[in-house]
Amino acid sequence: MKITLTEHKKVKPDFTKLGFGKYFTDHMLVMYYHNGAWEEPEIVPYDAFAMDPCTNVLHYGQGIFEGLKAYKTPDGKITTFRPYENFNRMNRSAQRLCMPQLDVDLMVDCLKKLVEIEQDWIPTAPGTSLYIRPTMIANDKALGVHAAHDYIFFIILSPVGSYYANGLAPTKILVEDTYVRATPGGTGEAKCMGNYAASILAGEIANQKGYDQVLWLDGVERKYVEEVGSMNIVFVIDGVVVTPALVGSILPGITRKSTLEVLRKAGYKVEERRISIEEVIQAHKDGKLNEVFGTGTAAVISPVGVLNYKGVDYVINNNEMGEISRYAYDTITGIQYGRIKDEFGWIEKCN
Ligand code: COI
Repeated sequence: MKITLTEHKKVKPDFTKLGFGKYFTDHMLVMYYHNGAWEEPEIVPYDAFAMDPCTNVLHYGQGIFEGLKAYKTPDGKITTFRPYENFNRMNRSAQRLCMPQLDVDLMVDCLKKLVEIEQDWIPTAPGTSLYIRPTMIANDKALGVHAAHDYIFFIILSPVGSYYANGLAPTKILVEDTYVRATPGGTGEAKCMGNYAASILAGEIANQKGYDQVLWLDGVERKYVEEVGSMNIVFVIDGVVVTPALVGSILPGITRKSTLEVLRKAGYKVEERRISIEEVIQAHKDGKLNEVFGTGTAAVISPVGVLNYKGVDYVINNNEMGEISRYAYDTITGIQYGRIKDEFGWIEKCN
């Protein structure tokens, strides 16, 4: 790996007022795919790409990305959470989008080196971390619709606070029954750019109505719950943890998977199955919808305080974070920030 360090370091922002994804560190990692192979990865000063307007990612969106985080632990260690999972998922996304595979071990090593170089950018205030965004884009200069021959892989880093402006305050979610995010056979389980582009209109409409995000239903019957805009969704119904099964149109979230493992280990009954929106609403009417929360790298564990379905607001757990959501949040973040012993082997040290 080649490393070129900048002499012109940026002035760091106020780490207590970060928001999400607004500031970027001094360096990035870049690797080009050309003539059928990846070239040597390079850490270089953070800079813009010069792109020909005909570059095919700009037209057809052949692009994928990942999201994970780095943390500084109380004993000064720099860590990341399950990075192999992210690069394995990226390879599955790449396969679906007809893009080249990455060497997972090499990518984890590159990531650790980049994070180590940028360690002064890791914020330490509660709820803050260094967000890591690995991305791969098609880079052919041609307008024909076909798999590109050239690609750019890059990793950028951003010190972040909480994804939602109100932090851990319960979110308001609108159940979307007009637009859909994904259909069977589509790209729903890949982390590709187009999935997010397709979600923006419904998200904007929900925001205008006073909701934070939408809850997507399945694309065939608009009956089964799938996921929320930037996170997977979990319900606690009559004490049982229920989350939509990964049926192909749902993003296989790493925080989702980790949360289910943590809750199973703690003895909670966990079900991954199809769950209809009618079942959720009926559980609420019966007083059995104990908790709803989202899971995601950016969102971490975010309680849902209100679900709106067909014009009716259903308030969950008095608009407060529930016991199981709190346990999941405390355990996952405890492991990530080094406050709790990592019995799962999820933490990768960078220094
Ligand atoms: C993440 O949680 O890392 C995501 O990629 C979701 C979102 C910010 C697009």
